[in-house]
Amino acid sequence: MGDGEEGIVAGAPKLAPFNPSSPDVIHRTCDLLGPGKHGAGIGEDDVVFDLGCGDARLLCAVALKYGCRCVGVEYDARFAERAEKEVEHYKVGHLVEVRHADATKVADLDRATVIFMYLNVQSNLALQEVVTAAYRRGVKIVSNMFSLKYLGDDFVEAVVCDGITRLYLYDQMRAKAKGSSTCAEDEAQSSLGEKGEEVAPPREKSAFMKKLEWFFDPLRNPYIIKIFNGAMVALFALLLFLMYHGLGNIHIYNIIILSLCLFFMVNWFIREYRAAVEQEARDKAAAATAAAAAEGEEAVPEGDEAASETKAELKKTN
Ligand SMILES: C[S@@+](CC[C@H](N)C(=O)[O-])C[C@H]1O[C@@H](n2cnc3c(N)ncnc32)[C@H](O)[C@@H]1O
Repeated sequence: MGDGEEGIVAGAPKLAPFNPSSPDVIHRTCDLLGPGKHGAGIGEDDVVFDLGCGDARLLCAVALKYGCRCVGVEYDARFAERAEKEVEHYKVGHLVEVRHADATKVADLDRATVIFMYLNVQSNLALQEVVTAAYRRGVKIVSNMFSLKYLGDDFVEAVVCDGITRLYLYDQMRAKAKGSSTCAEDEAQSSLGEKGEEVAPPREKSAFMKKLEWFFDPLRNPYIIKIFNGAMVALFALLLFLMYHGLGNIHIYNIIILSLCLFFMVNWFIREYRAAVEQEARDKAAAATAAAAAEGEEAVPEGDEAASETKAELKKTN
């Protein structure tokens, strides 16, 4: 199935392939739009647009939670149909409108009070003019995965989802109230510390919690795996000692088998986790390279730096 096939709005550019937001992203987007110090504080009077809505599950969740109107724009008839089914399933037809249309040509985007986007760097740039205009009107912008550099580092929240994906909320009113120094502070508190990348922790955390998280994160704390493996070796030594001295019984053999399973499972899990983080960094690098190519830049994009820095970080833990 490629581009230009039946069901695609004629002439519409492919902004991104279908890749629905994860349940965690949907859940956190709902939180991010909600009340509270860190939320956008939307209510029934708001109108949320999803540019490239896919199956519109995100909009259904938002509509259900806040009773606001939502408009999903989807250029592929297959996903627009799927979105209609979701709307029917969640019984939010009175709130959610699904449009089989091109998201780059939305005539009534001025109705939006919130715009959600889960596209890619290049497509975010393609929408720069309309998104910037909306943002200046006071529309809140939420971008899944990619920060919108053209909004001038003004994001007021950056939420970590699924361990790595980031959800950025841009809210001009709050950005002004916070002042530019807050963005600088957010950057300083970056959990990954990649130079030039607008990444901030999701919430203020105490120093103790940060230390605790660092301690139990095998990708950041190189000692935790060594401590675990050392403890397992000590346990095996003890069990073998008991066996050798004739003190062993069936329970000791069971414990040995269970310990071996635990040992291999934990090490396998950490290897998979590390591979997933590396893949994420590679994807980011590819997206940044595509964006830089689109802008005609020759400089190495930060995505590559991010990938190599992440790799270097991961190597330390080996
Ligand atoms: C990454 S998915 C995001 C889906 C949804 N917003 C979510 O977060 O679950 C991007 C969606 O944009 C749609 N899309 C791509 N180009 C588009 C265009 N020009 N107009 C409208 N939708 C488009 C794709 O078909 C796909 O469903």
